[in-house]
Amino acid sequence: MNTVLQVRNLSKDFYLYNPGRVIDGCRDVSFSLREKEFLGITGASGSGKSTILKCIYQTYRVKSGEIFYFSPTAGCVDLTKIPEREITRIRRQEIGYVSQFLETLPRVTARQIVEDSALEAGVSREEAQKAAEEVLNYFKLPLSLWDIYPYMFSGGEKLRLNLAKAMVKTPRLLLLDEPTASLDEDAKKLVKELLQKLIQKGTAMIGIFHDLDFMRGLCDHVYNMAHGGEAGKGNL
Ligand SMILES: Nc1ncnc2c1ncn2[C@@H]1O[C@H](COP(=O)(O)OP(=O)(O)OP(=O)(O)O)[C@@H](O)[C@H]1O
Ligand SMILES: [Mg+2]
Repeated sequence: MNTVLQVRNLSKDFYLYNPGRVIDGCRDVSFSLREKEFLGITGASGSGKSTILKCIYQTYRVKSGEIFYFSPTAGCVDLTKIPEREITRIRRQEIGYVSQFLETLPRVTARQIVEDSALEAGVSREEAQKAAEEVLNYFKLPLSLWDIYPYMFSGGEKLRLNLAKAMVKTPRLLLLDEPTASLDEDAKKLVKELLQKLIQKGTAMIGIFHDLDFMRGLCDHVYNMAHGGEAGKGNL
């Protein structure tokens, strides 16, 4: 199986002007990930799990280290070094990111958010419309919510919309930051089944879940922040 991502000695810290202190985000993180693989990240609150995903997605610039991404369109690139425009293109077409909190533009409807995400993958408008409806139905987002602005949605509705947005296309790499935090058991089952389908299609995934039961049966490897390394899935 081909390698999708190789993170080498990644470190990130934050300088807080007030009170003039440096805070560790994550330190010396290394792992690699291949097609169809699922890496789970575990560790205490504040240990830097979300920071790793944000560095890969380039929401944060790293302090040091390399993040090699093997793109089908651009070849092997170090995400920490390529121009902003190229990052934006790769994110739109190849990398999905699901955070617990949906950040949306103020006047874009739920349906439009998912359709736009499908369009970014390069399908026709008709195909994007159909795919958006299918995935909104799949996650049981009520029809009455499709054409309104999601800032007023409940936590679980926002999360399901965020999942629909990332999963309406088949990303090469999917980053999941606690994507089941406010979901009931039925919705979690739907998420798991769709993740398994994407893995079958070749998507590589990195996931953070507090729900270790959910991780079981999905993860191929676990990166534990405390031990600074990969462990087998038996260690969950
Ligand atoms: N934008 C930021 N500015 C300043 N400090 C930050 C920022 N983002 C993260 N940190 C700090 O970096 C450390 C790691 O945070 P991070 O969010 O990665 O932890 P986490 O493992 O995801 O925790 P949780 O399980 O609670 O989500 C924390 O001490 C946090 O306060
Ligand atoms: Mg976090």
